[in-house]
Amino acid sequence: MQRIFLIGFMGAGKTTLGSFLSKEYGYSFIDLDHYIEKRYFKSISQLFALHGEEGFRLLEQKILHEVAEIEKVVVATGGGTPCFFDNMECMLSKGVTVFIDVPTDELLIRLEKAKSKRPLLKDKNKEEIRAFIEESMLKRRSFYEKADLTIEGSLMYTHKDIDNMAQEVLRFASSKK
Ligand code: S3P
Repeated sequence: MQRIFLIGFMGAGKTTLGSFLSKEYGYSFIDLDHYIEKRYFKSISQLFALHGEEGFRLLEQKILHEVAEIEKVVVATGGGTPCFFDNMECMLSKGVTVFIDVPTDELLIRLEKAKSKRPLLKDKNKEEIRAFIEESMLKRRSFYEKADLTIEGSLMYTHKDIDNMAQEVLRFASSKK
């Protein structure tokens, strides 16, 4: 059994690293948001609009517990996943949890280009996104920092950059077997 949960803020590169681990190193890959969208036949934005953030968090918890039973899998979680209910404890008990830590300035560059599918960001301008990142990080960091491993994620542009991160994760995960 080897289960790896990738956690971190929106734009940290959880999906990028997770799909890389799957393509290059043979893990199954689950992107939690994508899985939720397929299960409920609705986009994350539609689920937020229909059920509010509270309703979305309940669905997210349910699906996290479900995927936490799958074997040899990398799960890219949503940015808020570790910060609600027992989600962080669930991930810590079911596998290796990796926090991809990226500085605010870099997150801002990434998120400005990719805010439309993210209901918590889509109506915000650059300065509002910066304020949101800073305020959320104050609350979320304590959850993220419970991870078994923290890796630096600001350099994620080339195949080599991502492979270096993947290898760091795999070295750590195999030491935990
Ligand atoms: C959220 C992050 C999103 C998604 C939802 C809420 C958050 O996932 O779950 O929009 O609260 O940070 P990504 O981190 O994959 O963007």
